[in-house]
Amino acid sequence: MTRILAIANQKGGVGKTTTALNLGLMLASKCRVLLIDLDPQASLTACLGLDPYRQERSSYSLLMYDKMTLARVLRPLRPGLALIPGSVDLQTASIKLLQENHSLGRLRMVLRDSRVPFDYVLIDTPPGLNVLTVTGLLAADEVIIPAQCNHTAILGVRAVQDVTFRIRENMGNPDLKVRGVLPTFYDDDALYSPQILAELQALLPGQVFKVRIPYDVNVADAPHTGKAVVDYAPQSPGAVAYRQLADEIVVD
Ligand SMILES: Nc1ncnc2c1ncn2[C@@H]1O[C@H](COP(=O)(O)OP(=O)(O)O)[C@@H](O)[C@H]1O
Ligand SMILES: [Mg+2]
Repeated sequence: MTRILAIANQKGGVGKTTTALNLGLMLASKCRVLLIDLDPQASLTACLGLDPYRQERSSYSLLMYDKMTLARVLRPLRPGLALIPGSVDLQTASIKLLQENHSLGRLRMVLRDSRVPFDYVLIDTPPGLNVLTVTGLLAADEVIIPAQCNHTAILGVRAVQDVTFRIRENMGNPDLKVRGVLPTFYDDDALYSPQILAELQALLPGQVFKVRIPYDVNVADAPHTGKAVVDYAPQSPGAVAYRQLADEIVVD
């Protein structure tokens, strides 16, 4: 059965795209993985070597054109891994989706088709709990909330929790659940990191991943080499943590 996970947080810069990328690559070593880029900034697409300004068919096409099929928008990248790229067109998608009365459930419909040949679908969403994020959450079974371990973490997590609740109760995805809060940018030397972690665990008992993604300069450097950290520095703390995250998700 295909598991569909959206990665969401209203805050930018918390590690959503980094998580989609590295988790996707780790899972793809054992399973069939589809990554979907719903962010107009399309940094997941860029990290995977595609130019967001030159995507003739993208997640935008899938959301906007009823006849567009999954097969036509997806790009095989390596064995076990495919991408539906984002494109700069997504900047106008939020408005058009509402103005032209498109169904926000289109991605959900396409992915719930029983013939989707993937074990995992990971949806990278933009910052802000906007129409594109809602589209991703409507399509998903589970949501991963990366939370940067600083004083704003709780607010970001609460906002996603709230939207998840609304989507479950009122918007037609009654099975959506928070799979886990993922502590990111964890710094053992900082006083506040363990404090924030304890606050997150108190807010969502049993729903915070065991793994913490550490602050690791290799993670930040990797995109500059055209790679994800799990390929660029496989033994680095960041890569090891993303491997552990994949293990936590697979055992479910
Ligand atoms: N664990 C980490 N350690 C160091 N830098 C990181 C880490 N995770 C992400 N980054 C860097 O922080 C920036 C924001 O991460 P990103 O995944 O793009 O966040 P988001 O998608 O939530 O906006 C990127 O430059 C990324 O390379
Ligand atoms: Mg991002």
